[in-house]
Amino acid sequence: MTEKNEDKMKKIISFAKRRGFVYPSSEIYGGFAAVYDYGPYGTELANALKREWWKYMVQFREDIVGLDSSIFMHPKIWEASGHVGGFSDPLTECKECHSRLRVDHLLEDVNVFADEKMSEDEINKIFSENKDKIKCPKCGKQDFTKVKKFNLLVKSNLGNFTGNIDEEPSYLRGETCQGIYVNYKNILDSTRVKVPFGIAQVGKAFRNEITARQFIFRTREFEQMEMQYFTTPDGEMDEYEKLREYRWAYYTKHLGIKEENIRWHKHENLVFYAKEAYDIEYNYPFGFKELEGVHARGDYDLTQHEKFSGQKLSYRDPQTNEGFTPHIIESSVGVGRTMLAILTEAYTEEELEGETRIVMKFPKMLAPVKVAVFPLLKNKPELVKKAKEIFDELKMNFMCEFDDNGNVGKRYRRQDEIGTPYCVTIDFDTLEDGSVTVRDRDTMKQERMRVDELSDFFKKNL
Ligand code: GAP
Repeated sequence: MTEKNEDKMKKIISFAKRRGFVYPSSEIYGGFAAVYDYGPYGTELANALKREWWKYMVQFREDIVGLDSSIFMHPKIWEASGHVGGFSDPLTECKECHSRLRVDHLLEDVNVFADEKMSEDEINKIFSENKDKIKCPKCGKQDFTKVKKFNLLVKSNLGNFTGNIDEEPSYLRGETCQGIYVNYKNILDSTRVKVPFGIAQVGKAFRNEITARQFIFRTREFEQMEMQYFTTPDGEMDEYEKLREYRWAYYTKHLGIKEENIRWHKHENLVFYAKEAYDIEYNYPFGFKELEGVHARGDYDLTQHEKFSGQKLSYRDPQTNEGFTPHIIESSVGVGRTMLAILTEAYTEEELEGETRIVMKFPKMLAPVKVAVFPLLKNKPELVKKAKEIFDELKMNFMCEFDDNGNVGKRYRRQDEIGTPYCVTIDFDTLEDGSVTVRDRDTMKQERMRVDELSDFFKKNL
């Protein structure tokens, strides 16, 4: 990371805590690595991100339906999916400072790429060959333990009364899409969907990630927004291209991310069943990294679940009567990763009258607070009363905040920092002629408007 970008990352982390977006988990107990909590504004932002994703992926589409499956599922699902046997990261430990490190990341830093399918021995071999170039990112030493593959599934004792969780574990789901695959037949049988169609789900997933780095980019508990699209075998690649375009438009047009800040990354080493795999990468302060995966998975998922459950999961086309196992294309993205991209994109510092104005230039639909309402003076009861009346009316339709603390300039700065698109100030003229000042976050322009015009103005502009 360059010094400038490191500085930006530090600023975002400290801003996120100071202004109630993201807190480290369990902080009064010294923290809990790679787990974070969202504060009041972070919760609003995360909810807005999930709402927009749902709107775009379900509401706007006649061919996609929603699902909310459980976090706990039959443990055999994780055997069928390959997670019990193969969902692991290569781990080493620095002998000097005892930092646990991901070997694929250490290798990546020196432009050597380890394949997920490599055995422990193979990874140990390429790690030894490159050790002279690799330093511990924490202490700089070059002395590491042997590489071990570490399974990422989080085990639990749910439903296990023998007490031996290693022998009879249940798992917290490692990805939400398995809940989609195992409900695919229920959805076919209980709704009017026909292949091709999609199932979308938003929910928590858990992974015992080795490295606790990069803030909310990689956490052990996180939320995924996943859509699995079931296609005919011949239609898979056409639908895949359409999905790639649709997801690109989501970021660039719907969320307004600058094109220069996202790019496609094609996977060169595909897992054996995959037809094609691209990631959408975002230009985080620590460089371009995976934001979302858009993958063509063939018929692997349903075939595996057929095999392990013994249930038929094939589909019969009602028109042609042809039977086949649907192929699946997926779009999968984390809420936290999207939030970090949006925070990075929105964080702006501007010089204003010799001071630095921090302003979060969120797209208006994502702003945690949409309208702030101020009485010009706190100690004038008639102004406060009128401002409360206006606040009470606007809050029925928009997330609003009432603020009567400090001078109006300071209140503008506070709202700019959390990205509030509009501030409404109630002054003595309001009491005379029913007009208020509406101030715009980005242009900082103020305009006078009648109180009875406010609702329509915000409906139009938010
Ligand atoms: N069903 C496919 C799947 O889960 P993945 O690449 O492991 O694929 C998909 O994860 C997306 O979920 C990633 O692109 C990322 O946005 C998010 N994600 C994965 N692991 C994460 C973690 N530890 N912390 C935060 N987000 C994560």
